Order: sequence, then C-alpha cells, then structure tokens
Amino acid sequence: MHKVVVLDFGSQYTQLIARKLRELGVFSEIFPFNIPLAKLRKEDPSALILSGGPQSVYEKGALLVSKEIFKLGIPVLGICYGLQLMAKLLGGKVLSSKKREYGFASLEVRDRTGLLSGVKDKGQVWMSHGDRLERIPPGFIISGKTANTKAAVIESSKDKLYGVQFHPEVIHTRDGKKILTNFLFRLSGLKNEWSLGSFIGEKVKEIRGFVGNKKVICGLSGGIDSLVTSLLVHRAVRRNLFCVFVDNGLLRKNQYLDLMKKFRRQLNLNVIGVDASELFLDRLKGVISPERKRKIIGELFIRIFEEQARKIGGVDFLAQGTIYPDVIESSPVRGPSSTIKSHHNVGGLPKRLKFKLIEPLKELFKDEVRVLAEELGIDKDFITQHPFPGPGLAVRIVGEVTRERLEIVREADEILIQEIRRAGLYKQLWQVFVVLLPVKSVGVMGDRRTYQRVVVIRLVQSEDGMTAAWYQARPELLARLSNRIVNEVQGVNRVVYDITTKPPGTIEWE
Ligand code: XMP
Repeated sequence: MHKVVVLDFGSQYTQLIARKLRELGVFSEIFPFNIPLAKLRKEDPSALILSGGPQSVYEKGALLVSKEIFKLGIPVLGICYGLQLMAKLLGGKVLSSKKREYGFASLEVRDRTGLLSGVKDKGQVWMSHGDRLERIPPGFIISGKTANTKAAVIESSKDKLYGVQFHPEVIHTRDGKKILTNFLFRLSGLKNEWSLGSFIGEKVKEIRGFVGNKKVICGLSGGIDSLVTSLLVHRAVRRNLFCVFVDNGLLRKNQYLDLMKKFRRQLNLNVIGVDASELFLDRLKGVISPERKRKIIGELFIRIFEEQARKIGGVDFLAQGTIYPDVIESSPVRGPSSTIKSHHNVGGLPKRLKFKLIEPLKELFKDEVRVLAEELGIDKDFITQHPFPGPGLAVRIVGEVTRERLEIVREADEILIQEIRRAGLYKQLWQVFVVLLPVKSVGVMGDRRTYQRVVVIRLVQSEDGMTAAWYQARPELLARLSNRIVNEVQGVNRVVYDITTKPPGTIEWE
C-alpha cells in the first residue's frame, strides 16, 4: 500500500496534514525532519511532504534536510517553511518579507496544468509565515501568486517537486483539499486505498506476525483507547491476550464495577481485576507536581502489570492504547512540535520496562478510534462517552490527592454528568468534568460562615483534543450546576466556570 511520509519541521498543522491525507484515503506517517536518509528510504514512501514550521530557512540553526531527499525519485510537496526550504536548497532565494502575510489571502491562479488543476481563481488561502520566496530555483515555474507573495505556488513538473506558501491542510484554504488531491492522485499517481476498515485487517495481521504465539497483557483504563486496543489484539491472538483492569482509586463513581461487567460479559474479554486503590493513594500522598503524579501512576500501573504478568507466566508483550495526540504532545523524538505534557501512556513509562510494546492506535486521532470501535462491535454509549485520562481523577485534583478530595470530585462529577445529559448536551461536548482547587474560600450558608473548597466546571468542545473551545453554556444551566454542587457536595461552597480555550490552556488542568 502507498504511504506518504510527512517530515515535521514544527508546524502546529503537521498532524493535520497527515490526517487530511488519511481522509483522502492515503496512509501517511509523520517523522521528525532529521530522520536519517537511510531510514527514510527504508520507510519506502511513495511521496513526501515537508511541513511548515516557525523558523526562517536563513536563520542560524534552521532545521535543514539533506538535498538528497529531492533525489529519491518520489514527488515532494513543500508547505510554507517546506516550500522555502526546498527552494533554498535547490538554488532559490528566501527573504524576510516586509509586507507580512498572515491569515487570509486571495490566490491568483496562473497555471492549471499541475497542482492547481481545477482550483478556482481568487479563492481564499491561509498564510502563516513572515518569509517569502524572492527567487525561485531553476527548473520551477510559478503557478500561483497572491497580492504580497509573488511565488505562492511553485512547481517543477519534470522533477515532481511542488511547493505552496499557504496551508492547503487547513479549512480556511478553500481549495486546499483539491490541491492535496492533485498532489496525491494526479501528480504522484497514488491510489486511495486506505480506510479504517482496511486498518483493522492490517493491524491484526501485523500484531499476529509480531506476537506469534506469545502472550500479551493489556491494561484497560476504562477509556475507549485501551478497549479498542484490546479488541484489536484479541482478534489477533485470542486466548493469549490477558487484560488487566486496575482499580487505582482514581476512577469515577461506580466505574470499576460497571466496567468489569461490560468487559467480561459483553465483550468476552479475559480480564483480571486488581484492587490497588490503597497502594495508589499511599504513593500519591504529599505529591503535588502533575508530572510526578503521572509518573507515579504510570509506574505503579506497570508494576501491577508486571506482577500480573509474572502470575500468568510467559508474557512478553504489553499492549497500550496510545493515540496520536498523546504521541505528539509528549514526545520530542517524533519531531520538533514542542512537548506539552507527558501523558501517562507515553511519558510515564519506566525505563526498566520488561515488555515489548504494542501500540496499534499510535497514528490515529480520537474520532478515528471511535469509528474503529464501532467496527469492532462496541456499543454506541460507550463509544460516545467522553475521554477519561489515564491518571484519572488525580489530574483533576490540583495539589495533593486525598480520599476526601476524591470523594468531592466524584460526587461533583456525577452531578455534572447527570445535568449535562439531562440538558441533552453530552453528545455535542468533547468533555465535561470538574476540577478541585487546592484553595478554600469564604462563604455563607444559612447564617453560618463557611470556609470550604472551590470546584471548577470545565465544558469543552473539540474535534480531536488538539484544540478546544470552552462551551458557551446557558446561564440557567450554570446556575443549576452551581446550585446542585454547592448544596449536594459536602465541603464545597464555591463553583467557578473555566473560560479558557486550548491553546493557550490545555483541556485538563494538569
Ligand atoms: P489536554 O489536557 O492535554 O488533553 O489538553 C487532551 C485530551 O487528552 C486527555 N488526557 C489524557 N489522556 N492520559 C490519557 O490517557 C493522560 O495523562 C491525559 N492527559 C490528558 C484529556 O482528557 C483530553 O481529552
């Protein structure tokens, strides 16, 4: 099957490029810009895309690639920084632009024989860089320009090298999809043969080949990612998959028992239940740093797996439900898109890990995982449930995690979910949760002064968890939530509403 490799130069849109290609039916993977040439050759891509990036190609320390990548004999599309880099390496000239062009611009089409076939004249494109291409490299033509950018689209049909100064991957570029389609199918001759359906078959085959008749252990977190992972691995190795579901004391109200029932009865998985809440709470005593919490929780999980694995005997593999946003947000090794926080799936793994890892969802976005879940026979209610972080309620209690605080968060969370469902909003929101703050505030209840905790309500809308908007909730809903939480949850006398988007905030508070 054809694969397109996207080289990451640090653009905030890199993952979006990969994602768009998959939507168009072409498998794609992202690698850091400095992947060794030999490794890139081994990946055997059918085409290459150079992402955008915040740097200037003429800067000291600019992220560069070897000129050899243009001699691999495969089509290359440079986007924004990618175009500038390609042009500079091939003999063009890039300058800082006096008239910067950020945001919308109008594309004047001058040649429709290649990348811009079928693209409308004067259509809107999305620009986001301060540099421009002053002189194009030999062998290239300019096929599109904008008011401030003379070389907005360049092409060398002989060498199959293409560049666009704007971002075809974002929806603000009107014919962006058309341009990518042209690059993939018209110019690179790829076929649209990738789909999530074919993904299941391929992954199952791959896992079977990798694991053979060895045993696999998989931790279920209660979320959809680890469950889909388990079902994929289950298809591949059947009885040789042993799932472990740990009650870490950081789950929602009734979550442990409800889920055990579902895993065993409904989905026929072989699940070992472990009650380790005492252990987790003990180890979290006095811990305040979010990263420390994640590391402790991640390590304990692994220790428990190791223990269970020892009991089962002969387990060589650990399956994990790491998905794409976890990878890019945690790992500087995938590319320069900067590290934001270490999700326990990824960042918390101890070095002494004794298992080989299986991470079949590593390249997928959340909504793609949901489609897979449906194909694997998971019920709609479970699929449409909001994501729940691996470290559970621990990252929703700012400061130390204690039994008393967990109780507060659980009760408030239960009320919030009830009310959101009652208002018919659950499905249109990406996530709703409460956060407990480590401060107390003064209040008055009845005639008495109170000095109690503050709970934050967070309601967000998002497509894939990478960016998010706070939900503009109706005042009546907020009033009801505040009223119920203060009245029904012991120890809380104040409720506040979080109105922060991502970025600059993250969805969770820790
Ligand atoms: P943030 O807070 O990074 O969250 O904007 C993006 C999405 O990821 C979930 N999340 C996690 N999931 N382990 C997980 O498995 C984690 O450590 C973790 N932290 C955040 C978060 O709930 C949101 O949906």
